[in-house]
Amino acid sequence: MSTIQCKINEILGAEISGIDLTRPASDATRAELNTLFSKHAVLVFRDQPLTPSQFMQAAEIFGSLMDQQIKKFVLPDYPLVGCNSTKDLPRKNGKLQVRGENYHTDHSNDIAPPKATSLLAVDIPSYGGDTQFVDVRRAYDDLSVRQQTAIQHLRSKHVHESSRSPRSFAKLSPEEMAKIPHTQQPLVIQHPISGRPALYLNTGRMEGIEGMNADEGFALIDQLYQHATQAKYEYRHQWRVGDMVIWDNRSVMHQANADYDPEEFRYLYRVMLQGDKLQPFVRIRTI
Ligand code: SIN
Repeated sequence: MSTIQCKINEILGAEISGIDLTRPASDATRAELNTLFSKHAVLVFRDQPLTPSQFMQAAEIFGSLMDQQIKKFVLPDYPLVGCNSTKDLPRKNGKLQVRGENYHTDHSNDIAPPKATSLLAVDIPSYGGDTQFVDVRRAYDDLSVRQQTAIQHLRSKHVHESSRSPRSFAKLSPEEMAKIPHTQQPLVIQHPISGRPALYLNTGRMEGIEGMNADEGFALIDQLYQHATQAKYEYRHQWRVGDMVIWDNRSVMHQANADYDPEEFRYLYRVMLQGDKLQPFVRIRTI
């Protein structure tokens, strides 16, 4: 019998207990966790002070690990494990320039973007530094049928850094830049497991909407982004050391916060899981 307990959050995500992620999971446990993941999209595991290799093993319950894009922020002995460390962050007017400080979905310019990302908290400041998530499936569901129909067939070009990006991205080496893809992604995607439609947005990387002039395209992106980032779609994760959080990049957007004392240390391991090419949502008409 399964020992897993699942406490569903009010708005989005679920907290899983009754599992020790230092140990390999059975096939039944893996299947159960994957079902919960595709339904709740953000899973939180508390009190899991994992080593990098245990963290990799735990994340692999949900898929295959993929390369980290920014090689200077990986653990020397574990190149698939990245690290988000305050010690690597530049400052501007005393404020830390935190990576991921506006809602986004990871590497949306990849032809097959990561299906999931996971963080493990190693060191956490005494206040602040939460990660926020919004449910882009519910945000789509709440649009009127007229709005859904109007955007359903649209596509957007996703590039390394949009000409109207609200944030600057980490500077890449010429070798890294040469490998960066750009691609057209559907504005409404269909989840490969749950089948649910979701808005696919990333204002840092979207370069307008195919077939619209730049101002119209960016205005539509902005309107959908304002809609999808409302508090009613949000789960805000307050980190504790030993938390492992995994999220589905096809069902949620996430953002980091730089609201903590820049002299305090914040350090998390990060892995990403290989995804497939995104599929547009196709509404099946009922008669
Ligand atoms: C990220 O966008 O992956 C960073 C999230 C965080 O550090 O809170």
